[in-house]
Amino acid sequence: MPSFRAPRGTRDLLPDASSRLNRLEGLARSLAGRYGYLEMETPMFEQASVFERGIGEVTDVIEKELFRLAPRTEESEAWALRPEATAGIVRAFVQHGMHTWPQPVKLSVVGPMFRYDRPQAGRYRQFWQWDAEAIGDPGPAVDAEMIEMGYRFYVEAGVPEVQVLLNSIGDPACRPDYLERLTTYFRSHDAELPELERRRLQTNPLRLLDSKDPALTPLVADAPKIGDCLCDACAAHFAAVRAHLEAIGVPYRVEPTLVRGLDYYTRTAFEYYRRGAEGQQQALGGGGRYDGLVERLGGRTSPGIGFALGLDRVLLALDETGATAAAEPPPLAVIVGADPADTIARLRVASLLRAEGLRVRAELAPRKLGRQLETASRDHAHFAVIIGDELTEGHVQLKDLEAGTQRLVPLVELARELARAAKSHHHG
Ligand code: HAM
Repeated sequence: MPSFRAPRGTRDLLPDASSRLNRLEGLARSLAGRYGYLEMETPMFEQASVFERGIGEVTDVIEKELFRLAPRTEESEAWALRPEATAGIVRAFVQHGMHTWPQPVKLSVVGPMFRYDRPQAGRYRQFWQWDAEAIGDPGPAVDAEMIEMGYRFYVEAGVPEVQVLLNSIGDPACRPDYLERLTTYFRSHDAELPELERRRLQTNPLRLLDSKDPALTPLVADAPKIGDCLCDACAAHFAAVRAHLEAIGVPYRVEPTLVRGLDYYTRTAFEYYRRGAEGQQQALGGGGRYDGLVERLGGRTSPGIGFALGLDRVLLALDETGATAAAEPPPLAVIVGADPADTIARLRVASLLRAEGLRVRAELAPRKLGRQLETASRDHAHFAVIIGDELTEGHVQLKDLEAGTQRLVPLVELARELARAAKSHHHG
């Protein structure tokens, strides 16, 4: 017999994990609503060139991690599973002419992303993000608002001690000079560079600052800093972002080597980490400004900023810090019957109560009443509805399993009785 398993780098979210993920998704949607971000969906796959152009060819995400879909015929387009949401959202912004909407357009996407990464703790091939984008506002106030919204997510999710690492990575006016200084620096250390990084020095020197190769850490620490090379406009923008963050009380730390792994960023760049867990694969989320991306994907120039928060890593952080999430509540009532074979009566009553919006379970195994009642207690149900001979008179027994009391209730009043009990006990 074959033994099938979930693909490497993916995992089944069993009901407990799934309900914890749902809670985070619900929180993301609630925050998006509070901050005025409209929810939308983009396809889980796009033309590969949307990602290649948007994210940049010389990035880990495109070079090594893009999940390309094998075309069925020679003519087929090259597709890829989305490794992130920003490129797809901006593609949609251009396609649907959203530059004619009131600006900025604030959008939110919650869902799975795919990266063909080497799997390890906190790094999966399918993972979930909450992504938010504000397109059409050059900042700096919206930058601070975005960073604050992400920060608030961790606070409300219950992840302790999250800090914001912040940097500005300049713009096309000042970055070229910086890149030249950076290239000269790394060239003078050529012999110490691993093969991949030596190649990248030719094509995308900024990537070296973000290298996953630990051999590079000391070199990166001594490298020239972009912060010392910002033009006046970028420096003023960065100062204003910081002033706004301070005014609204978001704690942050300027991290001069923070550059982010995707190519579309300009100016503001930020990441969220738990204090003491600031390793390469431990970012809880990250984002930044991308004033050139809309144009790069075929639209007219429009500034933008966004973030993506990794929900899997939030679940891991909550596990590690022992912060527990509320599990699904038990059923309000379990419907049991004196006649083990009469599953029709039990299902009918359950159906009636569910139609009234109540959370109930019908015991459908043909076992004795005593055993049926045991399952009701095992489920931590507050009530058992017992169907017996009284049903011919239109009555059922309502047993309060917590209080140990029992009384006869007309079937037509059962839903109302249970709803009232649910309200006074905060059930269901
Ligand atoms: P990113 O830094 O590539 O940014 O990913 C954001 C977050 O997604 C990471 O901080 C991490 O928590 C989570 N993540 C990334 N890869 C994995 C993985 N393989 N397994 C588990 N979690 C992962 C972006 O995706 C940008 N689109 C953010 C953005 C939006 N910038 C502007 N707008």
